Amino acid sequence: MATLVGKAWISRNCAKSLFSCYAIFPRVSSTTKTHFSTHEDPFGINKKKTADSPGAKEQVSKGLPKKFPIAGVKQVIVVASGKGGVGKSTVAVNLALALADNDKDKQVGLLDADVYGPSIPRMMNLEGQVFLNEQNLMMPLVNFGIKCMSMGFLVDEGSPVVWRGLMVMSAIQRLLRQVAWGPLDYLVIDMPPGTGDTQLTLSQNIPISGAVIVSTPQDIALLDARKGAEMFKKVQVPVLGIVQNMSVFHCPKCGHEEHIFGEEGANKLAQEMGLEILGDIPLHTKIRELCDSGKPVVVSEEGSPQALAFKNIARKVVEKLPAWEDPFPAGNKT
Ligand SMILES: Nc1ncnc2c1ncn2[C@@H]1O[C@H](COP(=O)(O)OP(=O)(O)O)[C@@H](O)[C@H]1O
Ligand SMILES: [Mg+2]
Ligand SMILES: [Zn+2]
Repeated sequence: MATLVGKAWISRNCAKSLFSCYAIFPRVSSTTKTHFSTHEDPFGINKKKTADSPGAKEQVSKGLPKKFPIAGVKQVIVVASGKGGVGKSTVAVNLALALADNDKDKQVGLLDADVYGPSIPRMMNLEGQVFLNEQNLMMPLVNFGIKCMSMGFLVDEGSPVVWRGLMVMSAIQRLLRQVAWGPLDYLVIDMPPGTGDTQLTLSQNIPISGAVIVSTPQDIALLDARKGAEMFKKVQVPVLGIVQNMSVFHCPKCGHEEHIFGEEGANKLAQEMGLEILGDIPLHTKIRELCDSGKPVVVSEEGSPQALAFKNIARKVVEKLPAWEDPFPAGNKT
C-alpha cells in the first residue's frame, strides 16, 4: 500500500509525518527526531549535524557524488536565469508541455527546483498529497500528462522554507533521486534565480543535456542572464540558447506592438556570448492569467501565437540537444 508524504500529514499529524519522512530517508536515524520540526524540515535533514558543525561544508564537498544519471531519465534540460521574475517558471512549464505536444511519443517531467519559491503547483494546477511507491520512491503528481515534483507538494504554501545551503542541497538531491521519475525522455528543471547552491548541486550531481537561459531585454536582467550562462559554461553544461521573454507588448485593445524594454538587448548578449536566441515570448496578459491560474497557454490556447512561440522554442531545444547516449548499453546492464 502506498504511503502518504508531505503537507497533508504535516498539517494534520506531525508525528505521523515525521515518521513517514524517516521511512523515505532511512539514513536519518530515529534518535535525531526531536531536533527539528517537520514544518521547517519535511525531509528530516538534521540541521545540527550538517550546516552547523565546523568543517561540515568542506567534508560534504570532498565527498560529493560523481555525476550519474537519474534512473530512467534520458535528458535533463534546465531553465535558468540570473534573476527572479523574468519568466523562468512560465517558460519551464510551457516548454515541458510543448515538448510533449510536439512529439506525442515523448514522456516529459517537470521538477521544480525552486525550493524557496515553488511555482509549479499553481502553474500546473496540482496539489499534493505525495505517495510512496513500493520502492519507497515519491510518486510525481501528474497533470496534462506531465509528471511533476515540487517542494510545494511537501510543505504548506503559507509556511516559508527557512533552510540553509546544505539543507537545500540535500533536498535537491532527494528530489532528483528519491522520486519515481522514469521512464522519461525529457526532465525539465525549473531553477531558482541566481547561481547558488541549487545550480551547483544539480550540475555536480547529474549530467545535464542543456541549459535554456531566460531573460527579459532589460540591461539588468541581461547582465544576470550572462552570469547564469557563464556559470553553466564553467561547469561544462551546454547552454542551448536564450529565450527572450516579455520582449514585445501586444496591446490587447488595438493590437499594436511595443518593445517596452528595448529591442536588441538579448540579440547583443547572444552575439557576444556566441549563443542563439531560441525564441521570443511576447508580454501578453493571457500568458500571465492562464499560467497563474493553472491553465498554461500551450494547453489552453493551443493555436494562439503565444502557444506557437513556445512550441517553436521546444523544437529548437530538441534540435540543439546533444544526441542521447545510453550510459548502460546492452550487455553492460547489471
Ligand atoms: N510573457 C509573459 N507575459 C505576461 N506575463 C508573464 C510572461 N512571462 C511571465 N509572466 C508573468 O510574470 C510573473 C513571473 O513569472 P515567473 O515565470 O514566475 O518568473 P520566475 O520563475 O523567473 O521568477 C508571473 O506572474 C508570470 O505569469
Ligand atoms: Mg520561478
Ligand atoms: Zn493599444
